[in-house]
Amino acid sequence: MALLGKQSVNNPIFCAIDTPSLTRAKNLAQELRGHVYGLKLGLEFFMANGAGGYQEMAALGLPIFLDVKLHDIPNTVTGALGSLLALKPAFMTIHTSGGPAMMRAASDAAKAAGKDRPKLLGVTVLTSLDAADLAALGQAADISQQVLRLAVLAKQNSLDGVICSPAEVKTLRQTCGKDFILMVPGIRPTWAAANDQKRVMTPKEAMAEGATYLVIGRPITEADNPAEVAERIAAELI
Ligand code: C5P
Repeated sequence: MALLGKQSVNNPIFCAIDTPSLTRAKNLAQELRGHVYGLKLGLEFFMANGAGGYQEMAALGLPIFLDVKLHDIPNTVTGALGSLLALKPAFMTIHTSGGPAMMRAASDAAKAAGKDRPKLLGVTVLTSLDAADLAALGQAADISQQVLRLAVLAKQNSLDGVICSPAEVKTLRQTCGKDFILMVPGIRPTWAAANDQKRVMTPKEAMAEGATYLVIGRPITEADNPAEVAERIAAELI
């Protein structure tokens, strides 16, 4: 397959680089440059490699979504954000269940970082939780209602968007408006293995429902030729 060779216009793919290995992460970044929009680095990478490892990745030139899901009291979250904002990721995450005051403090801190500040996204209900888990946690609402409640709260407290599963995209787009960022994992092309993802949607379906960006990991990172797979997915979206 011919590769497009430079970053596709409107390519919405963040590739999830879920590894503690800086060498593997850098190799993937180099292979994927020009074939995805950006990279998602999460706790697995950040705990192993810290800010130094992050900076080595950022130097490779792709926008980075730093997914460290902060969850603490407002003072501690804004303190942690102070250090993370200096790294200038394109996106970063906090837990909406930290509450309105924490979200407001975090969004104020992010906005104070200026025009090219990172966008702040909220994590709503982790997709590893089911209805029985929510009940065990004392939350009576069903999952979709709880996701909607937390996404609306995120918007009210000036977060730029949320992470959500494909099943939630349509409702959240309708409720939260066209500018609210919906970053969507759980994406699988029809020709890729689902791995442990249970409720998946294809890239094209998720974009049609209203996703802003797609997070795709293993179908790309475990392929023999990650760049070719990324291009194949991007081409399906045109
Ligand atoms: O390899 P895969 O495409 O399943 O990777 C999806 C990425 O999105 C992983 O980093 C995973 O932790 C993350 N994620 C997810 N589901 C959520 C939130 C994040 O799969 N609800």
